Amino acid sequence: MEPPAGTSCIPLAAAKPNARYIGEIYSTSSCRDRRFVLEPQNIRFVYPDEASVDVPLDSLAALDLGDRVLLDAESLELLEAACLKHHRHGLAGRVLGIDHLASRVLAGEREDALLEYLTMVPYYFWGAYNIAAMNSSTNVTRHPSIGDEKQSPARVFTANNTPSYLNSFDNLPMPTEDFVRNYGRRMHHIAYEVVDGEIQGEKNVDFVVDVLRDLGISFLADVVGECTDQPNLKQIFSKASPYSLLITEYVERCLGYDGFFTRDNVAALTAAAGKAERYEHGHVFD
Ligand SMILES: [Fe+2]
Repeated sequence: MEPPAGTSCIPLAAAKPNARYIGEIYSTSSCRDRRFVLEPQNIRFVYPDEASVDVPLDSLAALDLGDRVLLDAESLELLEAACLKHHRHGLAGRVLGIDHLASRVLAGEREDALLEYLTMVPYYFWGAYNIAAMNSSTNVTRHPSIGDEKQSPARVFTANNTPSYLNSFDNLPMPTEDFVRNYGRRMHHIAYEVVDGEIQGEKNVDFVVDVLRDLGISFLADVVGECTDQPNLKQIFSKASPYSLLITEYVERCLGYDGFFTRDNVAALTAAAGKAERYEHGHVFD
């Protein structure tokens, strides 16, 4: 099958033209007022019928997002079985809500992507980790007035430090820009919080990963980070979903760890994702 027009320069994503991340929904007291604030800053909204300005959100149909898809009885049964499985295997109450959402962009777009995002939502730039060995930096934005990330997940943007077209001088690894060149600028992973604690002598995140592995979910490498007697965090990436192309991350902050990430973990996860892409999908731009 021919890839859709415009996707030939993102070779690995072209094989999955229907796997798309559309966006996030933020609560506002008035869509109309928000629009009047943002339009002078050159943020564009969907104009043609203006159906999405201050409509009650009793039903998603009011947003006119596209065709409705109704699941048949067989699909509903499968969904219910998956929910039951989640409970039966002891995952309920251990895997909580979304902790952060992470996108990857090209090196030259890092600042623009951050500034655009910070223009549109009330987040602030929390800080960045420079992962020199992976030739990338991970930039974290957060909501300033929530005590629990799950109420408004942190938004992370990762980009190369040196763009791919100059990297031949240094020949550093560059999994971040390889990802963008293979899949396009897009969300890379969604991270779920695992509640801190232990079960059967192991940390919850290790337990969750064991259960999911037994159920057929594949992960990239092992859990990174150690939780002993010091506050720290443990994280792991799943393999990318063949349906959404997204990686799922599980993160457990142990003993009240109050930092957001650690440089060592970010470096290990970035390396693991790059390695998987090279070996499993072919490293298109070697
Ligand atoms: Fe992450």
